[in-house]
Amino acid sequence: MSQTDDHTLIRRFSIIVVGLVLLTVVLIFVARSLQLEPDVDANPSKRASAEQRIKPVGGVRVGAQGAAALAEAQAATASAQSAAAEMDGEQVYNGSCVTCHEAGVADAPIPGSDQMAQRLIEKGMDTLVMNAINGINVMPPRGGNPGLTDEQIRAAVEFMLP
Ligand code: HEC
Repeated sequence: MSQTDDHTLIRRFSIIVVGLVLLTVVLIFVARSLQLEPDVDANPSKRASAEQRIKPVGGVRVGAQGAAALAEAQAATASAQSAAAEMDGEQVYNGSCVTCHEAGVADAPIPGSDQMAQRLIEKGMDTLVMNAINGINVMPPRGGNPGLTDEQIRAAVEFMLP
């Protein structure tokens, strides 16, 4: 390869490199003018939902205000618990069991039906209650309401019997 050949090659190569650099600069300006960067402030609901997603899961309250809020929360929990504890069999049934058992969804025995009577004869009350507590086949444990006590389940089963 002669020296002139080398010179031509280097010149051409430099022209290509400079051309590519210029093209890059042009593309940067084109992209900027199109404003392709997301503008968070343009959409308030997007900003709000992002803030909702990243907000802390809990807060700490201190002083008198905190003590008052804590007492209020404890009272609310206690009254909700006692309301739940006072439910009788019928109320438990209507609250947690009715959706499946009233219509016999997935062969759930309908209260007062022959099928219910048959199960009672075959298995006995204790087994029925145990199965209602632990779940049986499609039926979820405690009818899907883990807040119910064993006594409440028993009361609901008693209510369902013929
Ligand atoms: C998601 C629907 C669903 C809910 C809610 C549900 N059950 Fe059931 N339950 C079933 C199905 C289905 C069966 C029949 C399961 C089987 O024998 O295959 C069943 C069966 C039973 C049985 C008979 C168990 C046995 O051993 O034969 C009792 C008792 C019972 N449920 C009580 C309850 C009580 C009490 C509740 C409410 C606390 C409740 N169920 C809520 C679907 C449900």
